[in-house]
Amino acid sequence: MTSGERRVLIAGGRGRLARALTAAAWPRGWAPVAVGRAELDVTNAEAVTAWVGRHKPALIVNAAAFTGVDLAESERAAAFAVNAAGAGHLAEAAVETGADLIHVSTDFVFDGQLGRPYVETDATAPLNVYGASKLEGEQRVLEAHPRALVLRTAWLLGGRGGSFIEAILKRAARGEALRVVADQVGNPTDVNDLARAVVAAAERLAQGPTPQRLYHVAGADAATWHQIARAAVEAWARLSGVTAPPVTAIASNDWPSPARRPQDSRLDSAAFARDFGMVLPGWRERIADWAAESAGAKR
Ligand SMILES: NC(=O)c1ccc[n+]([C@@H]2O[C@H](COP(=O)([O-])OP(=O)(O)OC[C@H]3O[C@@H](n4cnc5c(N)ncnc54)[C@H](OP(=O)(O)O)[C@@H]3O)[C@@H](O)[C@H]2O)c1
Repeated sequence: MTSGERRVLIAGGRGRLARALTAAAWPRGWAPVAVGRAELDVTNAEAVTAWVGRHKPALIVNAAAFTGVDLAESERAAAFAVNAAGAGHLAEAAVETGADLIHVSTDFVFDGQLGRPYVETDATAPLNVYGASKLEGEQRVLEAHPRALVLRTAWLLGGRGGSFIEAILKRAARGEALRVVADQVGNPTDVNDLARAVVAAAERLAQGPTPQRLYHVAGADAATWHQIARAAVEAWARLSGVTAPPVTAIASNDWPSPARRPQDSRLDSAAFARDFGMVLPGWRERIADWAAESAGAKR
């Protein structure tokens, strides 16, 4: 890095979004620095203050999160420490040093009972600990930082490592039975598309002070997990020259898990589209790429 560069701290730097952000096309002169938990633990307020004070990033992107939705049910304190307190620490450090802040949140702040895509002003009502901790994170960020941008996204797919599609295709390749829930609807979002949206938002923030905002930013089309799994398996089968195995639709009740999940957490991203001129591609446009990436990741 040189002194004239615009430094961007990407907290949670080893995660999927962070890796997509590191690989994203930032404007000339911007220097993204992805910093993982080992170097910067966001739950440690003093460490956050010290890191931000020393490196003085112009922008902090908070991609750090406790994302184990089921695990959070039994590790409530740990989930809140990262998703709520950690987000607050970054926001406070950003205010102290004059940095901009983009914080990433989730559709799981909603209970999924509304019956239409959620807009930013709809009431939140998380069903699980993860959603509650992320909601408190949003609140802490917005209380602390007058210019913060909060981006709620959903169902991140694509990129490398630990994705739903990778897990499904591994099972398909092993010839295991595929049973996937068909009664949860959301907006699958390509992680690299989300990274582009974050960069666009970062550029806007750099143009001058703007009041804090919360936006929904997710892929254009809704789907169930079953639809995604079936389409991914079919795309993989075409690539591999094999017959696609059946993907059985099941109800959430048939797949007991510690955390309850919203049945319909579709997000309406119209405000982001209007303000940034960017609509994130829907899953039908991305499914073949996701399947190809995941098949490649297996080899
Ligand atoms: N994935 C989705 O489907 C989805 C959907 C909606 C919203 N989101 C939101 O999108 C954002 C990015 O998610 P993602 O999918 O990229 O998650 P991810 O792959 O799980 O990455 C999160 C990263 O945060 C790190 N982290 C955890 N605790 C930390 C701490 N105390 N200090 C610093 N870093 C810490 C993790 O490190 P370790 O690996 O060491 O734990 C991990 O590398 C999150 O805010 C998430 O809530 C995700």
